[in-house]
Amino acid sequence: MFVSYIIQRDMRTEIKGIMDYETVALDDANSALLIIDQTQLPYKTEILSLTTQKEIWDAIYLLQVRGAPAIGVAAAIGIYLAAKELAIENKEAFYAAFSKAKDYLASSRPTAVNLFWALDRMDDVVKENLEKSVAEIKELLHAEAVKIREEDIWVCKQIGINGLALLKPGDGILTHCNAGQLATVKYGTATAPMYLGQEKGYNFRIFADETRPLLQGARLTAYELHASGLDVTLLCDNMSAMVMKRGWVDAILVGCDRVAANGDAANKIGTSVVATVAKRYNVPVYVCAPTSTIDLQTATGDEIEIEERPAEEITEMWYGKRMAPAGVKVFNPAFDVTDNDLIAGIITEYGVARAPYKESLQAIFEQKKAAGN
Ligand code: MRU
Repeated sequence: MFVSYIIQRDMRTEIKGIMDYETVALDDANSALLIIDQTQLPYKTEILSLTTQKEIWDAIYLLQVRGAPAIGVAAAIGIYLAAKELAIENKEAFYAAFSKAKDYLASSRPTAVNLFWALDRMDDVVKENLEKSVAEIKELLHAEAVKIREEDIWVCKQIGINGLALLKPGDGILTHCNAGQLATVKYGTATAPMYLGQEKGYNFRIFADETRPLLQGARLTAYELHASGLDVTLLCDNMSAMVMKRGWVDAILVGCDRVAANGDAANKIGTSVVATVAKRYNVPVYVCAPTSTIDLQTATGDEIEIEERPAEEITEMWYGKRMAPAGVKVFNPAFDVTDNDLIAGIITEYGVARAPYKESLQAIFEQKKAAGN
């Protein structure tokens, strides 16, 4: 389907590991968004070069680029590319066309707030510079897209530092879905403390839930951690209670797609099951959340729109032939909301927020503002 704009793997592929590739990048020379096609991992590492809005929309919807921070960066680059292509000099007409492209990209997935956060940041650039020429506005959009991407690297590193402070050498850590480097520009969120700990010789034992139905845990988390030399054990989703009961898990680290103002956190479907079980076994659950994933405009988790995806992801995908009865009703929500009382802390780039979250999350944003960001 995407054959025409696939970049061939270069000769270095054989010596290049998955961590050496850029999850999401801007190719200025070809006016393209470059992504690793994550639907093909771990079998094949293919870099897609996307130039049209339809290609970029499809890549987000189809999860070729996925994970809240990576979606945000892809959208920022995507809307910049859309603006660059606009051969319009009239500013009102330019802004109207820009807004149309923005709404189109915003319709690709509903839950990860980073998508809207990044598009809004790009929108602000246009609105705040309407006195400038269209050519100048395009330059500023380029700079903002590059900045959003660069910031993600710093943010993940800080989450790594703040998260590592909550852990000790030899800890068992369970994670769900993929909040790894493949979900961000670098380091990941939930995996950042793991990678940082590895550098310091912490010898963590990681348990990765396979994460039905799209298997981001098995295909992506287990892949990138294993490729990085971490001690990772793959589990089916229904095994986490057993490993917690055995005392193998000291902490749960997960990512998230949107944190509400009260600390309720939407993440990949199954996260709330893990958190509920963790409470039973007194294992702390830490949600790793860049401030770009925290949505103070959303009061509670009940207000977060939960994406529902095609039934075939459950009934057919990954099986040689369909394994569920034809015509059976299927419920396929991509995310669930973990209630704030199940969360021991929300790890951000500006520190760890603890309950009551309404106040502590507010304080995190005040800190961010004080830092000039
Ligand atoms: O449907 P996906 O693969 O985009 O879901 C991703 C997750 O649920 C991640 O845990 C979340 O986006 C955080 S990524 C740092």
